[in-house]
Amino acid sequence: MDDKKVPSHIGIIMDGNGRWARLRGKKRSYGHRHGSENVQRVTEHAYRQGVKCITLYAFSTENFSRPKEEVDTLMKLLSEYLNKLIGKAIKNKICLRIIGDITPLTADLKKTINECTLKTAMFKERILNVAINYGGKQEIVKAVKELVAEGKEISEESIEQKLYTYDNPPLDLIIRTGGDLRISNFMMYQSAYAELYFTQVLWPDFDEKELDKALEDFAKRCRRYGQVIEE
Ligand code: FPP
Repeated sequence: MDDKKVPSHIGIIMDGNGRWARLRGKKRSYGHRHGSENVQRVTEHAYRQGVKCITLYAFSTENFSRPKEEVDTLMKLLSEYLNKLIGKAIKNKICLRIIGDITPLTADLKKTINECTLKTAMFKERILNVAINYGGKQEIVKAVKELVAEGKEISEESIEQKLYTYDNPPLDLIIRTGGDLRISNFMMYQSAYAELYFTQVLWPDFDEKELDKALEDFAKRCRRYGQVIEE
């Protein structure tokens, strides 16, 4: 694939774990476990294709309203995933960042998050953002509040500098699995000119081939950024 046509930064809304489990007569947590196992193969494949930065929507601010059992399962899976990921990220020189408000998370999970961040902060080539207790509207409000508190001018550039993604490549592509056609409070500011790719495929079934389809679709898009571009 032409290098210029590979998205630098992709965001993934990993939807459909619950339905995937229900189709198999299992509990939602079964789907989340399979969804969690799927993360590694998809992200590794994306980096192999030349993607520099990936943002995963793992847990939204709204997800805290789900039944306690499900929230606990997701937190446990996130903790397991991050603990396993540290070694791999160091080996593959990937900078790990957890984006979102981590205040309500358990002390153990916060400790793991700290370790992920500290041990991989030196890597610049590849970034993996895991959004936990993340909301796009909240991110913008937080950015503006910080600027106001510092007495700084509010501008597009100054807001961008206060977002979690301040030093990331621009968000080129959002992939949403599971068939719904919305972005659900994910990267509201960054998605202004991102291309959107929706698929019916449920997250645990979204494999390397499905990612290739999304990347091929992206490569065909004509990005005009509101301008007229002669083809
Ligand atoms: C949506 O499926 C998915 C989530 C709310 C969480 C995504 C979490 C994972 C893939 C596992 C943990 C994450 C990592 C990074 C290890 P849903 O429950 O809304 O499915 P449904 O729409 O079919 O009900």
